[in-house]
Amino acid sequence: MRRLRRTAALRSLVRETHLHPGALIYPLFLCPGEGVRKEVSSMPGVFNLSIDEAVKEAEACAALGIGGLLLFGLPAEKDEQASGAWDTNGIVQQGLRAIKANRRLDSLLAIADVCLCEYTSHGHCGIVSRSQMPDGEHFVVENDASLALLAKTAVSLAQAGADIVAPSDMMDGRVGAIREALDAAELTETPIMSYAAKFASAFYGPFREAADSAPQFGDRRSYQMDGANLREAMREIDLDVAEGADLLLMKPAGPYLDVICEARRRFELPLGAYQVSGEYSMLHAAFARGWLEPERAMMESLLSIRRAGADFIVTYFAKDAAKLLG
Ligand code: PBG
Repeated sequence: MRRLRRTAALRSLVRETHLHPGALIYPLFLCPGEGVRKEVSSMPGVFNLSIDEAVKEAEACAALGIGGLLLFGLPAEKDEQASGAWDTNGIVQQGLRAIKANRRLDSLLAIADVCLCEYTSHGHCGIVSRSQMPDGEHFVVENDASLALLAKTAVSLAQAGADIVAPSDMMDGRVGAIREALDAAELTETPIMSYAAKFASAFYGPFREAADSAPQFGDRRSYQMDGANLREAMREIDLDVAEGADLLLMKPAGPYLDVICEARRRFELPLGAYQVSGEYSMLHAAFARGWLEPERAMMESLLSIRRAGADFIVTYFAKDAAKLLG
């Protein structure tokens, strides 16, 4: 075997998996204000950005050849109906209009996350109903009541210019509801990238600081998947495909490479994976202590996700990786 590993040129010739900037997607967290660039304490190099700053960041991404942006919003106010998610003048809607008005950003796909958790006062991804029981207050995330708001959010984001809408809420039936609403609004050309198999993961911790979206009570285990279940993940994907998903996203990535691999084997749709906040923070924590070589560890983590079968990767390392690849 060593004959083909002897030089860099030989290794390059026989390399099976490649990374390229166009297959990387960079998440951005939009917040109100002007000139705001507030670092997320648990994610070095990741910021809450006002729209003017986000546009600068987007220009840097376009110059690096990155494939697209995934937009999240921090609204000025939150309420029980997640009004900020579907408001025509919501923070992401405004951001989309600014990005789409800028010709230097034409090469970037503007992907809008569709979820309610950043916009609800309780931090859940759907509408919550409460009831008094003898043993105290109970709450339920109302799956079907949430669908209308998710669909309304997706339509509003597509109307504001989103190239792709990406539901991450994990309510049953949302892909179908969103497709129907988009078609009814004559947005038939807007693809849906479904977070088809999204696990209830501890690795989302830093994101909840970045997006200010931690649930105020309970957790997400009644709608996100149990990390033990591979077969169930395939059923989730089956349903989303049947409901009209155009692209699939798996999440988290690194701890779930087997799920990515199995999804790639079974489904023909374009498949992405989200290297989530905790995966990024964990590596950065080791970089800060000098325990891992930053560039090598970053590239290896991304290459592994590609090798498992992801066509594209959502990652907070997108800019750093694109710089190395360029
Ligand atoms: C919203 C959403 C989450 C992430 C993406 N979309 C958080 C969650 O489900 O709690 C996590 C992304 C990351 O950790 O980087 N539903």
